[in-house]
Amino acid sequence: MKIGIFDSGLGGLVVTKAVINRLPQYDILYVGDTKRVPYGNRSQKTVYDFTARAVEFLFAQNCKLVIIACNTASAQALRKIQQELLPKKYPDRRVLGVIIPTLEAVGSDPRNKKVGVLATQSTAASHIYRTELKKINPRLKVLEQSAPLLVPLIENGAKKFAQPFLLEYLRPLKKFRADAVVLGCTHYPILKEQMRKILLKGVRLYSQEQIIPEKLAKYLKRHPEIDSRLSKKAQRVFMVTDLNVNLMAAAKELFGKKIAFKLADF
Ligand code: DGL
Repeated sequence: MKIGIFDSGLGGLVVTKAVINRLPQYDILYVGDTKRVPYGNRSQKTVYDFTARAVEFLFAQNCKLVIIACNTASAQALRKIQQELLPKKYPDRRVLGVIIPTLEAVGSDPRNKKVGVLATQSTAASHIYRTELKKINPRLKVLEQSAPLLVPLIENGAKKFAQPFLLEYLRPLKKFRADAVVLGCTHYPILKEQMRKILLKGVRLYSQEQIIPEKLAKYLKRHPEIDSRLSKKAQRVFMVTDLNVNLMAAAKELFGKKIAFKLADF
């Protein structure tokens, strides 16, 4: 059985590349919901419906474990999937998100006092980062800033136009004097270097492609009953719900080679 990695689009590819580097032997199926991206400005019900469909599609493709490599879906759909969908229909499968491992990484660094979180509208409005970080350390000050236009820019291959938006979205975090900034959307690592230039020197950036692979490796070590069911022939399959030329071009840039995408119909 495979590891499935799901996102609305490019962000999941960034995570997939990092997971392949860390765990090269595992068989991986990436699915990007390019037909419905962006998720970040939609209602909880819609995000849940889209995410549950994608997860069920990945289960039907023989995935034992699904990583929801999307903060929006992790914030708005993961809990219901884990508490309702899995027990009812898929008791032997597992679904993990990207927010809990990120909270652990941020919350465990005693240098962090003021944490800025840049995220989609939906993730920021859920206040999941502030709520959960405060549970880990009540003294942490947390400011969540939504950046609604970054995902559409990235998905449209327009990152060179991102500068004025980044200046606008990062200004409140600079004013807040954040000592750590969480890139709370898996698309944002694509703009990381641009962000680094805008943010004050010394600000620690938490970027999920640097966090998730190690956390996944540790999870698999702790769960031999899952790991033993995963096939390890280094096979990778890339699927999208719309064969969108911008995503294909971005994938080529990211992986340094052409990726053959197949159409996922769900
Ligand atoms: N990569 C998704 C996330 O981490 C982007 C959501 C969207 O499609 O707006 O939230």
